[in-house]
Amino acid sequence: MHIVHTIAELRHALRHAQRPAFVPTMGNLHAGHLALIAQARPLGDATVASIFVNRLQFLPHEDFDSYPRTWEADCAQLQAAGCDVLFAPREADLYPEPQTFKVAPDPALAELLEGQFRPGFFTGVATVVMKLLSCVFAGKPHGAAVFGRKDYQQLMVIRRMVQQFALPVEIVAGDIVRADDGLALSSRNGYLSASDRARALQLSQALRALADAASAAPDLPARCAGLEQHALQALAALGWQPDYLAVRRRADLRPPAPGDAPGHLVALGAARLGGTRLIDNLEF
Ligand code: PAF
Repeated sequence: MHIVHTIAELRHALRHAQRPAFVPTMGNLHAGHLALIAQARPLGDATVASIFVNRLQFLPHEDFDSYPRTWEADCAQLQAAGCDVLFAPREADLYPEPQTFKVAPDPALAELLEGQFRPGFFTGVATVVMKLLSCVFAGKPHGAAVFGRKDYQQLMVIRRMVQQFALPVEIVAGDIVRADDGLALSSRNGYLSASDRARALQLSQALRALADAASAAPDLPARCAGLEQHALQALAALGWQPDYLAVRRRADLRPPAPGDAPGHLVALGAARLGGTRLIDNLEF
C-alpha cells in the first residue's frame, strides 16, 4: 500500500489508474470502514482510502480535537484489507490556504435533521468531499466512491452534489455494519462508558418501535408527528437526550405525505447517551 500525503503524490500514485474506487474516512477504522473497502475493491482498478479529520465539519464545541486518531492501527487494517493507496493529507496539504470557497448543499436537504442540530455540518462535509473527489478523480474517465448508509443524510447530500455538479463518479452505498448486539458501528462508540455501551442499542430499538408504529398507523401523515413525539419521550425516559427521532420519505427526507407507504420510508434518529452523540437509521 502506498501512503501519500500531498495531492501531487496522490495523483502520481494514481497515474495509471483509469477507474479509481475511493473510500473517504476520518480514520479510527472499524469493521464498517473495512466493509466499504471490500465493497470498493471490485469497482475499480485501484482502491484508494483517505484519512482526514475535517475541521470544517465540526462545530466549535464538538470533538474535533479529541476525535480518535489511530494512525498505526488504521494503516495496518487498510493494508490487510487490500487497499492500494492511502491518502492522508495533513491539514496544510489539503487546505494550503484557507478554504474560503465552500460547497453549499441544498438547504431543503441539508438543513433538516442533522443539519438542524449541527448547522454548517453538511457544508463542511460537501466541501471536503468535493475536494477529495477532485484530488482522486481529476483527469480520470470514471470512478466510484463508497459511503456508508449509517450516515444516511450525508449519503443523500453527496449523491445530490455529485449529480448536480455532473461529476464522473458513481456514488455507491454501503450497508450499516452492526455489532453482535445490533449497535451500528461508529468511531464514536469508543467514547461510551461500559454501562452506556450496554444500553446503547436502545436508540435502534426506539427506531424499530417507531417504524413499527408508523407501519401500523392508518393515517400516517396526520399521526407521524405524534408518533415521533412519543418515541422521543420514551427514549428520554430511558436517560437519553434525543435530538430527533423522525419518520421520513427515503426520496427527499420530507415527512410522509398521503400515499407514502412503508417500503419508501426511513426512521432516523440522533441522541446523546452520557456525553456521546449516536445516530442510526432504519429503512422500512
Ligand atoms: O463520514 C465520514 O467519515 C466523513 O463525514 C467524511 C465523508 C469522510 C468526510 O469528512
